[in-house]
Amino acid sequence: MKEGDSISGSNYGRIFRISTWGESHGKAIGVVIDGCPSGLLLCEEDIQIELDKRKPSSYKHSTKRKEEDKVTILSGVFQGKTTGTPISLMVFNNDYISKDYSNIKDIYRPSHADYTYDKKYGIRDYRGGGRASGRETVARVCAGAIAKKILRELNIQVIGYVKSIGNISMETKDIDYIDKNPLKMACPLAYKKAEAYLEKIVNYKDSIGGVIALEVKGLKAGIGEPVFEKLDAMISMALMSIGATKGIEFGLGFSSSNTRGSLYNDEFYYDDNELKKSSNNSGGILGGLSDGFDININLAFKPTPSIAKEQNTVDKNMKNRKIEIKGRHDSFILPRALPVAEAMVCITLVDYILLNLTTKMESIKSGYFNF
Ligand SMILES: Cc1cc2nc3c(=O)[nH]c(=O)nc-3n(C[C@H](O)[C@H](O)[C@H](O)COP(=O)(O)O)c2cc1C
Repeated sequence: MKEGDSISGSNYGRIFRISTWGESHGKAIGVVIDGCPSGLLLCEEDIQIELDKRKPSSYKHSTKRKEEDKVTILSGVFQGKTTGTPISLMVFNNDYISKDYSNIKDIYRPSHADYTYDKKYGIRDYRGGGRASGRETVARVCAGAIAKKILRELNIQVIGYVKSIGNISMETKDIDYIDKNPLKMACPLAYKKAEAYLEKIVNYKDSIGGVIALEVKGLKAGIGEPVFEKLDAMISMALMSIGATKGIEFGLGFSSSNTRGSLYNDEFYYDDNELKKSSNNSGGILGGLSDGFDININLAFKPTPSIAKEQNTVDKNMKNRKIEIKGRHDSFILPRALPVAEAMVCITLVDYILLNLTTKMESIKSGYFNF
């Protein structure tokens, strides 16, 4: 463990460091961001735009919980600019119905975190899943909105979309289509099929998972750390910390294992005063450092654990029980998880860009003499 790391694991990042707090049915959810550079133009609307993307009810397979999710900036911004001091952001929880959850007070939902939280802490805020709720991600999206703004000033873009839902995959890729459909797919054909499929899933009182794709564009070469904290390792940590994630791939990912080197290797060539690559199977990261080409990530999500269909489980006393989960749940969470995934990538990139400023004497000198 490094100096400054928290034992409870609610902090992330080294320079651009976030600490999140709050439970699903507590009074509020929030985040403190330390290490954000001063002079960034920032207002509540910048954060609200991102937060609105993870709101429920933007599509019909989402939870019926209707949260206003209005963010308030409590500190760290003065006269519309960040001051370099900790930025504290808070969102009040309004539309929670805790009685929906009284039936799971002593019963463990299969594939959710009820059993493991009880084992670790001996006490569990069962209302809405407490800290293991998807609502925890509100804080991540708030912090990610600031990171995204910093990246925008550096001409770095993080583009995400829903690549597949169950067995339904994209047949073409149309980035402009992402914001034109509620499932955030980048393929009109796949969207049509997915809509019909999700209808059936809901009728069966079931849920389904899928894959989110993320593309980082405009990141210069040489960003990352070479050994334990490789850029791909840290992005994996950031993304796999999101609830319901089950797998991650960079570039060709798992298919790399059955591809010959002569076909896999991304050959370099120089053309038009530019370094180019014949392919990008490595997904934009070599030796834990960005290579200046797009970073391509696939992130797999399992089906939402809380389903209305009857399931077998046990209670606190290890008695066999049946459970039908009431409460308001997403039968398919990927469109809501998308801004969360983008946020976690943005936070990691900003942290690593700031860390990289200390790598070379020349950047230290130019930074110091530019005070
Ligand atoms: C944006 C988002 C929304 C979620 N909504 C729900 C939900 O409505 N019901 C549910 O059971 N799980 C939901 N989850 C998943 C659970 O949070 C997650 O499965 C649970 O904490 C157990 O963690 P694990 O799946 O990583 O093991 C959601 C996750 C995210 C990221």
